[in-house]
Amino acid sequence: MPSIPPYNYQPNPYVGLSAQEVIDLRKQYINPVVATYYQRPIMIVEGSMQYVFDEKGKRYLDAFAGIATISVGHCHPYVVKAIQEQSAKLQHSTTLYLHPTIAEYSKMLVELMPDDLSMVYFVNSGSEANELAMLMARVYTENFDIITLRNGYHGMSGNTMGLTSQSIWKYHIPHNFGIHHALNADVYRGPWKRHENNVADRYADEVKNIIQYATSGKIAGFIAESIQGVGGIIVYPEGYLKKVCDYVREADGLFIADEVQTGFCRTGKAFWGFELQDIKPDIVTLAKGIGNGVPLAAVVTTPKIAQAFTQKTHFNTFAGNPVSCAAGKAVLETIEREDIQKNCCEVGDYLIGCLNDLQEKHESIGDVRGSGLMIGVDLVKNRKTREPDFELASQVHELSKDLGLLIGKGGLNRNVLRIKPPLCISKADADFIVEVLNFALNSCKES
Ligand SMILES: Cc1ncc(COP(=O)(O)O)c(C=O)c1O
Repeated sequence: MPSIPPYNYQPNPYVGLSAQEVIDLRKQYINPVVATYYQRPIMIVEGSMQYVFDEKGKRYLDAFAGIATISVGHCHPYVVKAIQEQSAKLQHSTTLYLHPTIAEYSKMLVELMPDDLSMVYFVNSGSEANELAMLMARVYTENFDIITLRNGYHGMSGNTMGLTSQSIWKYHIPHNFGIHHALNADVYRGPWKRHENNVADRYADEVKNIIQYATSGKIAGFIAESIQGVGGIIVYPEGYLKKVCDYVREADGLFIADEVQTGFCRTGKAFWGFELQDIKPDIVTLAKGIGNGVPLAAVVTTPKIAQAFTQKTHFNTFAGNPVSCAAGKAVLETIEREDIQKNCCEVGDYLIGCLNDLQEKHESIGDVRGSGLMIGVDLVKNRKTREPDFELASQVHELSKDLGLLIGKGGLNRNVLRIKPPLCISKADADFIVEVLNFALNSCKES
């Protein structure tokens, strides 16, 4: 049986409601659309770095990080201290008054961006950030159409649901007006595969086709995740976004990089996911890992675009909240102090290598892909047909949890195991992930 690496930490004795009592209260009072993972849901009551504990004190390796949100580690002491100190002094004021942290933090954030991306607007969630980015692009360009990719996930608010393009996340309301979905640059299941010639150009031409056939020829912008997360860790072919960027700019549009999952060095080789594709966006949206679990998000753009947005008053109550900004600042400081990017890169490469080896042993692993600690393991019924194996993915997902490993599921068919741990995991944790998956794949019936 795989055993979780040793960790010197004793969780506090838990004295609250039982899991069953929580289930009962949720059933009675929480909208049933709020779903849980697992046939037997677990209750997480404490966390420390890459590990979480349930109410009985069982420790799990959190290889999903609350959906790629815990960046530097659960309850990282430095971040906790910053939050506690700020909470004790001032929890809220609004940007109508001055506060030092928002100013200091904006400067730190901008210093990590390419040159001209120097204006920040804070919000509370990734959906809000993308909503705002769309609005900014429309206001600045005075064009309306936005192009995005099939299989993407950009949020659940009115307009971002329009961007999001997997049917399970879309309600039957009009939300796609002025939004066009180009063929996804998926080199595993799309029409052009990874090793074919000119694959990046062929997919990029699909964006050009949409501009030419579905719009006036002028667009407000294009938005894409730098690597698709919810969609099952889809890594575009090299040079793809650069070519798309050219087409978008020829049509007077802005390039919006959704860095909600790929930001803050999760992809290991770069601090921002868009750097992997060697592009410079006009607008960047940030959330999730930015606050290591604190509700914080941001839109970063150029002074020119930001200026155009001043033609009306725009306001957000919690924008730049001092506690959230203190957390965000502590996250950046921790990334630097602990050289988190180096760890993410090294452990990520190591883990991808081990998962490639695992693929040799299991016919059901059709593909292993990703960058840094954003990794997908695509389970298939047949390697040739690449037919997704949703049932196997569900079984492996459930059994992994019983073995002490939390992972996610993604892709249109929910057949991709998503591995996105806190960026502080060790090689011993990576070994544990691989041992659990090996054990689970052997135990579950491979179709
Ligand atoms: C790439 C991406 N963009 C936007 C969002 C929406 O963020 P939020 O859930 O904070 O609104 C998500 C959420 O999973 C995401 O993965």
